[in-house]
Amino acid sequence: MSFIVAIDGPAGSGKGTVTKLVAEKLNFITIDTGAMYRSAALEAVRKNIAPDDNEGLKKMMDNISIELKKVDNVQKVYLNGEDVTKEIRTPLIDENSSKYSAIPYIREKITPIQRKMGENGNVIMEGRDIGTVVFPDADVKIFLDASDEEIANRRYKQDLERGMNVTYEQVLEDIKLRNKNDSNRAVAPLKKAEDAIYIDSTNLTIDEVVDKVIEIIENKMKEKNI
Ligand code: DC
Repeated sequence: MSFIVAIDGPAGSGKGTVTKLVAEKLNFITIDTGAMYRSAALEAVRKNIAPDDNEGLKKMMDNISIELKKVDNVQKVYLNGEDVTKEIRTPLIDENSSKYSAIPYIREKITPIQRKMGENGNVIMEGRDIGTVVFPDADVKIFLDASDEEIANRRYKQDLERGMNVTYEQVLEDIKLRNKNDSNRAVAPLKKAEDAIYIDSTNLTIDEVVDKVIEIIENKMKEKNI
């Protein structure tokens, strides 16, 4: 038996941080589904396989191995056995993961792996299509949102801390473009499931969002006598 929490929302809505903190408090397993699309994009970029090269992408996806593993309490991502945890978080892969994740064959291959990962235990899975496509029967569905300007603000601060040379306007444009691509693609777009609980984090602190999500999960668990 597993208890599944789906957290969907746009890039920069705070899903990753909220998922990590909630999982630590409730002792749930976390699954970062974006990391899987990022790994596929990294492989395509490395092998120079264009988004319209159907044959090339099919061959790539039929031979790819993407694993999420906790090593010494740190969540790691392995692409064909290689630790790519850091390499999938560059602006180049931000942009490309948005492009390659729109390709139906890539989603067709990754979605069943995610379903399998959710089969055992108490799981929080974060992404774009978890409540709509991957686990339409999830026990709890949350859609975490924030305004583009607030998302850009948060990302801009992070980028400066990492020593990157960017302007707020560039970050805002990137965020708008990525979230537009993710929302408008034909297959499994970023969308709130009808029965998802909507949380707008624009004017909330991370702790406030975490407390809300924990309350929602605990109420559901009580209801189900878990
Ligand atoms: O959550 P993230 O920013 O790491 O996701 C990277 C990209 O992957 C993003 O452009 C949207 C895509 N993605 C997706 O299409 N479906 C998911 N379940 C998770 C991410």
